[in-house]
Amino acid sequence: MTEALVVDSLHVSYITQSGLVPALRNVSLSIASNEILGLVGESGSGKSTMAQAVMRLLKPDVATVDGRILVDGQDLYQLTPEELRLTRWRKIAMVFQSSMNALNPVLSIQEHFADTMEAHIPGITRDEILKRTADLLEQVRLDPAVARSYAHELSGGMRQRVVIALSLALDPSVLIMDEPTTALDVVVQRSILDEIAALQKQRQLAVLFISHDFNLVSGLANRIAVMYAGEIMEITDRGMALEDAREHHPYTQGLMRAAPRLVGTKVSIEGIPGEPPDMTQLGPGCPFFDRCPERLPMCRTTPLPSKSGRVYIRCHAMPDPVVEKVKRP
Ligand SMILES: Nc1ncnc2c1ncn2[C@@H]1O[C@H](COP(=O)(O)OP(=O)(O)O)[C@@H](O)[C@H]1O
Ligand SMILES: [Mg+2]
Repeated sequence: MTEALVVDSLHVSYITQSGLVPALRNVSLSIASNEILGLVGESGSGKSTMAQAVMRLLKPDVATVDGRILVDGQDLYQLTPEELRLTRWRKIAMVFQSSMNALNPVLSIQEHFADTMEAHIPGITRDEILKRTADLLEQVRLDPAVARSYAHELSGGMRQRVVIALSLALDPSVLIMDEPTTALDVVVQRSILDEIAALQKQRQLAVLFISHDFNLVSGLANRIAVMYAGEIMEITDRGMALEDAREHHPYTQGLMRAAPRLVGTKVSIEGIPGEPPDMTQLGPGCPFFDRCPERLPMCRTTPLPSKSGRVYIRCHAMPDPVVEKVKRP
């Protein structure tokens, strides 16, 4: 399996008036060129920070970044600004949270595509741009005539499809999507997710799909990484149905139950009691300790093991691989 994206020992801290505030702590994962990795976690857990760090979008006066980001084997943090400019879009592209609102209102959709292609493909002709734009729009199931429209003439779902098509304009190997459907209604969301799945297969894309909604991701992803307080607590490739919840990290179990689910004819929502920790006051043990229904006395003081690999669980109370639940004392 070829790893299109490798994130190795990533640490990010924001520079604030009261000092450095950690946001990502020792995050490692990789995504092969034929899979979708879901990244889930509550709001504030560090998902968007992860997306921005992977794209090398965090400016040095905003955050400190340590670790390696390899795209097709090339470390983004070792590139010159010009090399980085060429790598973005071509190798790795991103659909931002609420990017459907980021289209320029005074440019037609066609002009957005033309700008991107002209900036990256020297000598591309007008005809080629028009043809490629029409192909890309068709791939996200939009009428190619949409190219002549302006953002305000399109619905939210259509704008989001445009943004997805645009992210594919330079045929990247890695696509990062940060809550790409969150602002849309459920029906539109569903059909866009279907298209993301189809595009991923056709183009052999490695996709990092970020969402706060475990159930939304579980229908789409090959694996799911679960983030809490800037750390990955678990990466799973199995048992993503609620019935299998007990196979997962206690935090994952909480997320699975917190997501709205249809039970019979009723939607039930059960939250995770408590609040995420203050990132400036983290103790040596598990960051989920205070909220964990499975905690053992050791969990407060014993650091979680560092793990890597395609799947893992980081939990003192939960063996990995999960064979049998350790009895609570
Ligand atoms: N520019 C910034 N400066 C300081 N702290 C930030 C900045 N951006 C995000 N954070 C903090 O980093 C943490 C993670 O945020 P974020 O990555 O946006 O989480 P998520 O996308 O999972 O909701 C939050 O506590 C947030 O307040
Ligand atoms: Mg976010």
